[in-house]
Amino acid sequence: MEYIPEMKDDVDSWQEVQLVYSSALKEIGTKLEILNDEFAHVHQYNPIEHIKSRIKSSESIVKKLRKNGYETTIPNMVKYVNDIAGIRVICSFTSDIYRIAEMLINQSDIKVVSVKDYILNPKDSGYKSYHLIVTVPVFLSDRILDVKVEIQIRTVAMDFWASLEHKIHYKFEGNAPEHIKRELVECAMMVSDLDAKMLSLNEEIQSLK
Ligand code: GTP
Ligand code: MG
Repeated sequence: MEYIPEMKDDVDSWQEVQLVYSSALKEIGTKLEILNDEFAHVHQYNPIEHIKSRIKSSESIVKKLRKNGYETTIPNMVKYVNDIAGIRVICSFTSDIYRIAEMLINQSDIKVVSVKDYILNPKDSGYKSYHLIVTVPVFLSDRILDVKVEIQIRTVAMDFWASLEHKIHYKFEGNAPEHIKRELVECAMMVSDLDAKMLSLNEEIQSLK
């Protein structure tokens, strides 16, 4: 199902799409690193534990376009697939998630396309995370492109839950037995309790300094 461009022009544009989206990931990655360094300078701890980024495979892009009833063309990919460039930011504490998101959104070259707060409104699965779709300008030799990037911000604990749940979801092709689903929701609640405890512990430690 991989997208195999047929014409030379298509090959060129597919390579350009990949170049542009990986440039956008670099731009966002650098912005996040700068914010993390500055934050560490001011508050004496790093709010970001680590950052993972990826370009969606052509296979997954094609699958998503087909699922939503669109023809597989490069303009459709750019228009309808918001997560070609994806970056996941793993934070120490829940409060850091909102700080990082706000600091990023407030930058004058960033435009917010959408915000989904699955921390305030968790999914039925129990999934918690803060999702942003933004555009960032990418400066090419002859033009500037506003490129979409999906940013998922979550704590280490939320990430632990999400990666396990993702594996289970795949294993059962989305139809896990009810008791497993229920236990995953319970685990998600335990994760929230853990995050809340860690946050209050950190606040106490910070206040002692
Ligand atoms: P996608 O078509 O999957 O991109 O979903 P969407 O465009 O409706 O956006 P949504 O915010 O629901 O999900 C975006 C991404 O969040 C997904 O691709 C996953 O990486 C992650 N995600 C969303 N829901 C869940 C969930 O229940 N479990 C896990 N593990 N990840 C999830
Ligand atoms: Mg996705």
